[in-house]
Amino acid sequence: MHKYRWKSLLSYLILFSTAGAATTFAQGPIPDSPAIEQRVDEMVAKLTLEQKIRLIGGEDSLFIRAEPAVGFPRIKMSDGPIGVRGWGPITSFTAGIGMAATWDPELAQRVGAAIGRDAHSRGVHIVLGPGVNIYRAPMAGRNFEYYGEDPFLSSRLVVGYIKGMQSQNVIATVKHFAANNQEYDRHNVSSDLDERTLREIYLPAFEAAVKEGGVGAVMDSYNLINGQHATQNSHLNNDILKKDWGFKGILMSDWWSTYDGVAAANGGLDIEMPDPNFMNAKVLIPAVKEGKVPESVIDDKIRRIFRTAIRFGFIDHDQQDYSLPTYSQENRPVALEEARESIVMLKNEHATLPLEMSKVKTIAVLGPDAWPAVTGGGGSSQVTPYSAPSLMTGLSDYFAGKAKVLYSRGVPPMDEMLSKTNFMLPEKIAAAELPAAQGHGVMVEQFDNADFSGTPVSTRFVDRVDTILNPENAQFPTPKGVRYSTQFRPAKDGIYMFLATAGGGGAYNLYVDGKQQIQQISREGIEPLWVELPLKANQTVAVRLDYMPNGPNLQAGLAIRSLDELVTVEARKIAALADVIIVDAGFDGTTECEGYDRTYALPWGQDELIEAALAINPKTIVVLTGGGDVDTHRWIEKTPALLHQWYSGQEGTTALADILSGVRSPEGRLPITFPHSWEENPTHDSYYAPVVPTGATPHVRYSEGVFVGYRSFVTTGKKPLFPFGYGLTYTTFAFSNLKVEPGVTNGHASAQVSFDLTNTGKVASADVAQVYVGDPSAKIERPRIELKNFKKVRLSPGQKQHVTLSLDERSFSYWSESANQWNWDPGKFVIAVGDSSENTPLTTEIELKK
Ligand code: BGC
Repeated sequence: MHKYRWKSLLSYLILFSTAGAATTFAQGPIPDSPAIEQRVDEMVAKLTLEQKIRLIGGEDSLFIRAEPAVGFPRIKMSDGPIGVRGWGPITSFTAGIGMAATWDPELAQRVGAAIGRDAHSRGVHIVLGPGVNIYRAPMAGRNFEYYGEDPFLSSRLVVGYIKGMQSQNVIATVKHFAANNQEYDRHNVSSDLDERTLREIYLPAFEAAVKEGGVGAVMDSYNLINGQHATQNSHLNNDILKKDWGFKGILMSDWWSTYDGVAAANGGLDIEMPDPNFMNAKVLIPAVKEGKVPESVIDDKIRRIFRTAIRFGFIDHDQQDYSLPTYSQENRPVALEEARESIVMLKNEHATLPLEMSKVKTIAVLGPDAWPAVTGGGGSSQVTPYSAPSLMTGLSDYFAGKAKVLYSRGVPPMDEMLSKTNFMLPEKIAAAELPAAQGHGVMVEQFDNADFSGTPVSTRFVDRVDTILNPENAQFPTPKGVRYSTQFRPAKDGIYMFLATAGGGGAYNLYVDGKQQIQQISREGIEPLWVELPLKANQTVAVRLDYMPNGPNLQAGLAIRSLDELVTVEARKIAALADVIIVDAGFDGTTECEGYDRTYALPWGQDELIEAALAINPKTIVVLTGGGDVDTHRWIEKTPALLHQWYSGQEGTTALADILSGVRSPEGRLPITFPHSWEENPTHDSYYAPVVPTGATPHVRYSEGVFVGYRSFVTTGKKPLFPFGYGLTYTTFAFSNLKVEPGVTNGHASAQVSFDLTNTGKVASADVAQVYVGDPSAKIERPRIELKNFKKVRLSPGQKQHVTLSLDERSFSYWSESANQWNWDPGKFVIAVGDSSENTPLTTEIELKK
């Protein structure tokens, strides 16, 4: 054995001499120490500059290179944060937004530990999660991976998750640092925000991950922050993360998010993933020789890699742990509990829920999400479970012998929409080119430019606008523009849906009778877009789709269908037969996905499906699947019961069935504000970057500042549809007896908040007691109240609990730009206690003096 191994093993055995052999390893990282630093020094001293540089660029997608000269093993990574991805099927947990809806940091810790065990069972050293980017707007394509709109809630959960995972000697990677709050154009967009907004809203969860969670790795984001890419943003990486917060672990890039080797090396990046395209010997050796990058800067990166690897035991132990089962029975109940605690009941009129099973014999399950199972959103977080019942199969099993489940998708699949649209060629073209086709079809012209100028490089005729895999690609380079020209003649009067789609982030414009009806901007989304237009029987409309592909894979589609033919006949029949209808509406991995944004509206056809179900049987329960709030305005008033299940992993359907049947009371609480409309969101006017010329940087200006989500609603007094922190149960709770004991010790403010919480109903359940703080006498404008502590309290009927929650100095502070530090102004503070940002029945004022 290498001599360093002996040394480290010795200190390890001294530290953990009581642990048994099989479990010795899962004790969490050992603290940094002079002995570790000395060992690191000795390892670094053995390496040439070339060897060091080799270590700061990844390999084979998910590895840090080995360095045999110092006994450093190849380090294996896996994606997170919802489970271990990329090394075969595995336990699939609730998405981050669902974890946030549990408001349960202790559960987050158990989930972190479970994913850590799964990582060990696959020999994974580093899990690429959790993600803690703040929910600014519902469209951001990765909201579902993150913990919602509040920095305090996110901080508590991320600390739990990291502690759990790292207790298993698996490194957690908190990502994406920072202000990665939109997915559109993610490599190019700059998030522009002031230092106060950054520190108060977008950084606290990262700060807590580092300072309290002791996270081993941080991942820089794709985007720019105030005009500088994250991977070379020295202010973020060096000044804040490493100096201010004292982070001593590894800072890696997101995959292909490094853009300049020298700037990244000096800007604080420690490892370029997944390949050394910029931080490589060719770039850095001359840069070091010319003094552009001090060798000490490279050494610091190596020191971080070695130090962290030693602390987690990677140099002294094999990470593959065969004492753990491949299919973990220990993790399944954790996944189930997380799913149960995450589901939020948003509406429950006329005691629709729980279902009265003696009266329910037939359940109609409708919706594209009801089968097959939708366990998560799309992209790098998506994991494959060994098994996961869909809503339809899971409810059928759960209610077997009591009620039967009838299922229909409800709306046709996209393929059918595309293939069943009957297009007609413009008369002139039909006559000249295709007399045999009797006028049916579409003319396709391919252009070598994106503004469709000049003569097309090719023209051909097809039956429909469907995925076209460029048939002429042997002869022509990928076209920059593809124009589909056709006509549509409706058989009857009615409202018609024009449904357009393009893969891979392509752009398109749809024109009907020369008028633009849909615009999809390049790299903004992949979900089909649609418009609903009134048409008259036999009156032909001209239809043109101008498609600008974003790469070599051509994929575009267009369908037109009368709205009254959208919801299937079968779905209507089933709905009419049922005692109760459950519509599983929302998104999935193809419509809500990393790399793109989603729509605010539910995917096409789903509003119509919900409306049709409600019209047939008002006892319709809507279950939402997705990463956040959606447009509900067409059906919310009429819907008696609404549940949000987020993406609830492999155990989600069982959890939902427990809630539908009343075996469990729902306990989830919104980690976001759910407004009536997108217009009500404070980022409505600033979410999309103004369009800039090709090649220029689009800038998103966070003009709402710290007034994100509920912070805006509580300050303006506008009421959202469902507030932050809100969620119904099958019981009722009462808050009473508030006492607040303020204290200032050596200039440091704090307070103890105590109150009673009573379950006044007839069913056991949990409430989330939330403590908000307001600062009416602050010298700067602050949100009227902000969440500063909370506790999930589970109570049996009639049970009362005395709850005490403390507030620390940060609870009263804001980021002072002039002092460049946290600051609190002496004076009055409001303490408001309740169970949502809009329901704080206990309120008092305290005075804090410096
Ligand atoms: C994602 C990261 C992920 C990485 C590795 C990137 O595209 O943004 O979150 O960890 O890929 O798969």
